[in-house]
Amino acid sequence: MLALAGSYRAGSFNQALISAARTVSPDHVEVVDFDLRTVPFYDGDLEAAGDPEPVQRLKQAVREADALLFVTPEYNSGMPGVLKNGIDWASRFYPNAPLAGKLAAVIGATPGRSGTRTAQQDLRRVLGRTGTIVVEGAELALARAGEAIADGVVVSDEVLDQIRAVVDAILESADLRDQTGSSSSAR
Ligand code: FNR
Repeated sequence: MLALAGSYRAGSFNQALISAARTVSPDHVEVVDFDLRTVPFYDGDLEAAGDPEPVQRLKQAVREADALLFVTPEYNSGMPGVLKNGIDWASRFYPNAPLAGKLAAVIGATPGRSGTRTAQQDLRRVLGRTGTIVVEGAELALARAGEAIADGVVVSDEVLDQIRAVVDAILESADLRDQTGSSSSAR
């Protein structure tokens, strides 16, 4: 599973959600992440000259992933630019774009009261346009994140259970549950 985040600051609540997803995921599931800060701003001239190396890596990571976990803060009622920029590159070119047809879940955390719901709506709308399939029922909108996350670690059992439910829902949709007990891995 590839985690794509909207914040990379030290102590980010949203990065803490990714760490927690890694913790609660079954052994056969690898949660990998990608630093979207390495990706240049989308530019049609850059693209026409050939995708820059970070863009190639991002597209490959999306293509290789069995599922995507979008983890977004809310900035002025929308998703952060760093995340939108990565989505824009990975949306090229429909219908053969890396994002088209990918399974995804959308979650997010904020110290505020809204739980990033508006940013998540924004993100779901954008993902719909890219042909990404957002899994129903795999949801987490964490408000007052400071009460559940301390020093970059999710310390609330309730929130850990919610993250586990999100991971389970993605794995079920992607048919990636380890029903056989085999060691085949999912990414
Ligand atoms: C914010 N923040 C914020 N929070 C929120 O709940 N709704 C909002 O609309 C906004 N808007 C906003 C704009 C900008 C430019 C910044 C920098 C911040 C606060 C935001 O939720 C907070 O900084 C989080 O801690 C960011 O997520 P990470 O870095 O902790 O993952």
